[in-house]
Amino acid sequence: MSNSRWAFLICIAFLFFCKPISADLNPSEIPPKFLNFAKKAEIFDWMVGIRRKIHENPELGYQEFETSNLIKQELEKMGISYKHPVAGTGLLGFIGSGQPPFVAIRADMDALALQEMVESDYKSKNDGKMHACGHDGHVTMLLGAARILQEHRNLLKGTVVLVFQPAEEGGGGARKMIEAGSLDDVQAIFGLHNDPLLPLGQVACRPGPLAAGSGIFEAEISGKGGHAAIPQQAIDPILAASNVVVSLQQLVSRESDPLDSLVLTVAKFRGGGAFNVIPDSVTIGGTFRAFSVKSLRYLKQRIEEVIVGQAAVQRCNATVAFDTEEMPMYPPTVNDKELHKHFQRVAGDMLGTANVTDYNPVMGAEDFSFYQELIPGYFFILGTRDKAAQEQPALLHSPYFSFNEDALPVGAALHASLAVRYLLESRAGSPTDNGHRHDEL
Ligand code: NI
Repeated sequence: MSNSRWAFLICIAFLFFCKPISADLNPSEIPPKFLNFAKKAEIFDWMVGIRRKIHENPELGYQEFETSNLIKQELEKMGISYKHPVAGTGLLGFIGSGQPPFVAIRADMDALALQEMVESDYKSKNDGKMHACGHDGHVTMLLGAARILQEHRNLLKGTVVLVFQPAEEGGGGARKMIEAGSLDDVQAIFGLHNDPLLPLGQVACRPGPLAAGSGIFEAEISGKGGHAAIPQQAIDPILAASNVVVSLQQLVSRESDPLDSLVLTVAKFRGGGAFNVIPDSVTIGGTFRAFSVKSLRYLKQRIEEVIVGQAAVQRCNATVAFDTEEMPMYPPTVNDKELHKHFQRVAGDMLGTANVTDYNPVMGAEDFSFYQELIPGYFFILGTRDKAAQEQPALLHSPYFSFNEDALPVGAALHASLAVRYLLESRAGSPTDNGHRHDEL
C-alpha cells in the first residue's frame, strides 16, 4: 500500500479507537457505568485507603491542614488543576474544558471534638477528635468522583468544580468559601450527607425545605447578688432567668403557625455557685430553628424582646447576643425543584427508582444552605446502613459511629453522574430555573 493509504487507515483507526464515548453512550447509561467503574477493586481499595488516612487524622474546622494536603496530593496525581488554599484550609479542583457551564460538587472536611470509642487499625490518633459525622467519607467520595470524571473527561460538556469545604460543623465554612469566590460563574451545586439509618443502595431527597435554618443566642441577666437568706436586699437573677425560660417557650406554642415548624431550646443555664449566695448574674443560651428566613427573623426579634422584657419584670437587666463569626446564623437548606427532578432521573438510572425515596425534613441545620442562597443547589441523603448488620447502627455524632465504606462507590458515582448529566442537559436546555433566588439572611 502507498504511504498515503497507510496514513488514511491509521487516521481511521485513530478515530475509531479515540471516538468520544458520548457519541454512542445514552445519558441514562452514564450513572450505572460510573458505579461499575467506582466498584472496581483498584478504585474501591484506593478510596478505602484515603478514607482511613483521613479517619485516623481528624481535624476540626479551619484546622484541616493535613486533610487538604492529602486532597492536593491526590489531585496532583490525577493531573487535576486546583486552587489552594481557599477560605483557610479549603480547596477547589477543576475538571473539564475550563469553559462554562460550570457545575459544582461539594464535600465537607471537618471532624468533631469527640473521643472515638470504635477500635480499628485506623482509629483516631488525635485525642478528643473524631470523624463521627462521616466527613472523611464525604471527602473520599468527592475524590472518587474526581477520579471518575478525570477518566471520563471526554463526556464533560463544560467544567466541574470540586468544592472541598472546611468547617461545616458550626464554623460556616460554606460562607467563607463563597466569599473567596468559589461559586463565581457556577450555575448549580450538589452535596450529600451520609445516613447510617438509610439502607445502603438507597438515597433520600425532597424538593423545597430539607433542613432548618438555625441561630444561636446567649443572654446575660444581671441583678444584684446578696445573702440567700436576705432576698429583700438582693435582685435575684436566677428567678428572672427561670421566668425568661418559661416565657421563651410560649413563642413557639402561642405566637407561631402550628403548621410552620419551629424550635426554640434553652440549652445553657449558668449562675450561682453556693447554697447561700444569690449571684449577681445568670447566663442562658440556646438555639432556634425554622424553615424560612421570615420565621427565623421573627424568632430572633422576639427572643430579644422577651428576654429583656421578662428580666425587667424582676428588676433585672439583660443583654442578648446572637450569631458570632464562629457560629453564624445558617439559612434553611432549600432544594431547587428542577434539580430535584434532575436528581431523581440520575439516581433512578443508577439505583432504580424504587431506591430513590422521600425524605422528611429535619430541624438539624446544614451550611450547604449558604450556597443555595446564591445559586440553585441540591442536597441529598446517601444511605450507608449495612443491611446484613443485625444491630442498630450508631448514629451521627456518636463516639461509636462507623462509616460504612461500601457506600464510597455509590456516593462517588452519584456525585460524578449528577455533574456530567447536568452539563449535558444544561447544553440541551437549562435543567434549573436560573431566576431562582432565596432571601439572604
Ligand atoms: Ni455532617
